[in-house]
Amino acid sequence: MRRARAHLDEILLDHAHCEKKAAGAAIKLLFSYPHHRFLQEPVADLAREELDHFQQVLGLLDRRGIHYRTLKPAPYGSVLHEGIRRDEPERLVDVLLISALIEARSCERFQILTEGLAETDPELAALYGSLLASEARHHRLYLDLAARLVDRGRLAARLDELSRVEAEIIAKPCDRVRLHAG
Ligand SMILES: [Fe+2]
Ligand SMILES: [Fe+2]
Repeated sequence: MRRARAHLDEILLDHAHCEKKAAGAAIKLLFSYPHHRFLQEPVADLAREELDHFQQVLGLLDRRGIHYRTLKPAPYGSVLHEGIRRDEPERLVDVLLISALIEARSCERFQILTEGLAETDPELAALYGSLLASEARHHRLYLDLAARLVDRGRLAARLDELSRVEAEIIAKPCDRVRLHAG
């Protein structure tokens, strides 16, 4: 938290990109899986929410005079996606579970920021507090969608494997201050 507090501008900028990426990943699902009718509406709703989050963070950047620009991301997302299996439905299961894990990690980080900034930066603490609830809902949704594709035992086993990979990535020290970094 001390590192984040010292680099809040960078955290906010990274956060804007994360929300945009979350929307992009959801829209990509709509393009890749039109034959899975069950995921269209919930994922379209989720994409809309992520874009709304993106705009909220953009507004905050503007109010604070932070120039919106490209930023080298943490290796987190790309490393996590390297382990996706190739065949279907395993591929989609992995994509959904990884999205669920990213949402959960966002929740953890937002919780830390909400508490850590409550005194010093109430505006930001309030933003993170409000985003926390919807990212928790997204986490649940991605798990529920994955549960439509495989039985409970296989799902739990795969979630366990991917969780371990995710925890290893986040535990590695990162030279950049990012939302999803150690
Ligand atoms: Fe979001
Ligand atoms: Fe989300």
